[in-house]
Amino acid sequence: MNLYKYISKSINDKLGFTANLETPRNREFGDFSTNAAMVMAKSAGKNPRELANEILPKLRELDFVADVSVAGPGFINIKLKDDFIWHAAQEPHNTKTENPKKIDLDYGGYNVGKALHIGHLRTSIVGDTFNRIAKFLGHTTKSYNHIGDWGRPMGLIITWILEFGMPKNADELNKIYPESTARAKSDDAWMARAKEITAELQSGNPEYRKIYDDFMKISLSQMDTVLHRLNLLPFDETMGERGVAPYVADTQKILESCGLLVESDGAMIVNVRTDDDTAPMPPLMFRTSSDTQTYAAADLSAIYYRNKSDKPDIIGYFTDSRQNLHFQQVFRVAKMAHLTDAELFHTGFGAITGPDGKPFKTRDGGVAELLDILDTSTDAVRKRVTDAGKVLQDDTIDAIALAAVKFNDLLHDVRADYVFDPNQITSFEGRTGPYVLYTAVRLNSVLKRAGDTPDAATTTTLTPDERNLLIETLDFERTVQSAFDNRATDMIANYAYDLCQLVNAFYHNCPILRDDVDDETRAKRIKITQIARDTLATTIDLMGLKIPEEM
Ligand code: ARG
Repeated sequence: MNLYKYISKSINDKLGFTANLETPRNREFGDFSTNAAMVMAKSAGKNPRELANEILPKLRELDFVADVSVAGPGFINIKLKDDFIWHAAQEPHNTKTENPKKIDLDYGGYNVGKALHIGHLRTSIVGDTFNRIAKFLGHTTKSYNHIGDWGRPMGLIITWILEFGMPKNADELNKIYPESTARAKSDDAWMARAKEITAELQSGNPEYRKIYDDFMKISLSQMDTVLHRLNLLPFDETMGERGVAPYVADTQKILESCGLLVESDGAMIVNVRTDDDTAPMPPLMFRTSSDTQTYAAADLSAIYYRNKSDKPDIIGYFTDSRQNLHFQQVFRVAKMAHLTDAELFHTGFGAITGPDGKPFKTRDGGVAELLDILDTSTDAVRKRVTDAGKVLQDDTIDAIALAAVKFNDLLHDVRADYVFDPNQITSFEGRTGPYVLYTAVRLNSVLKRAGDTPDAATTTTLTPDERNLLIETLDFERTVQSAFDNRATDMIANYAYDLCQLVNAFYHNCPILRDDVDDETRAKRIKITQIARDTLATTIDLMGLKIPEEM
């Protein structure tokens, strides 16, 4: 049950009035509080406290109300009946949307011939979690890894390979692009060659195409490794810049027929500035003067293609915030040219920084590769485990390290920068992935030790720890829905943490398997443990984490 929605609706129906429902920090006086009396007092010309007292009897009639009281200037605190909470919490979560949408999601965006770096971490993790949330709610999603696999970089790589031979592995391959680019800067003939090769590759030269296909294989397998290590859902499509190339001509025709394309110094651009713009809004570059496909042309052609093949209601993009302007331009042109009716959204991430607040670098000052980040975190977990005198299997260590990285990534508001500190994120205490996993392992182990579940208690009263935990599980549906509506995956991570806090309070204050606990109480607490475990496990799954056997 979406408890918040249920209570809120019942109160509003009862009073014939729309008021705000809040969850007070101090739950001692109420599980919810409403400002109904304060809002109504204005139009009724009454004193809010007086009015609140008049409303109380009406609210007492609601079947879930145990107690109501007036607080402060006229807030009404509502305490729920234990029995109501107990039964509501046992209903399975019902999260399926009544309004399923077709959603194309564009994240990952890996590049061929380049290592995946720290910049690809958030797009992968947040995009994947958003995809899981959307599916969980019953939407149909299609995930696109819009890979960078076309244009000048490919020509530069082929030029290098023709001279020095085929790389044997990803490490060798990933060095080529920067080296060839550096050489092109000082060597005009090299640059001219790369340009020529790029053009010939794009028009189908078989020799270049063979080389391209060969190093493409190396890159794709490297992407697969990352996908696997991050425990991401497989992409439905790996259709990127090259995949959309056949649709550029059609897209261009549409832009032309709308009178949007303008020639400028041999290039083709679209002016997207409007009179309302206060920030600079340069034109979108559709074709360069040397007639190569631009980044923007690829994205517009992708929208054209997706609109035709998927007919999506929504297309969502997840990249770092340096691409904010690019997506603003692309979305404007897409709408001006009526390429799609879909809702278009772009989530631009803040940077991952080192402790100095500057973009995170490796020790030698280079850009950190994505796999290095995972390795560093795995080492930090291994050290902690050893220091604590524990022995854990490699799989378990990997699962903990992955949870540390992903949870920390999801925890922060996507637009904000955050500091990557391998030591802090791998701590087993505090707002961390390991803490969340540890709590889940603890719940599983209680249930394992409990063995066969006795029949659940029928009537019951709840202690504060029990009721607070159950109420939190009843906030699961609302959380997932809000995370989707607000494109705010951080809500899921924060919910997981809050739930774990209440689980651990319950665990410490409410003995379950101890001899002095009577059967009725034990049955009730095992049931509560199950409900909490199922809710937490589902939340963990939405973040793409794995719960180990032991920790
Ligand atoms: N390959 C790009 C990069 O690494 C990201 C692609 C993002 N997606 C898109 N449709 N433009 O920066």
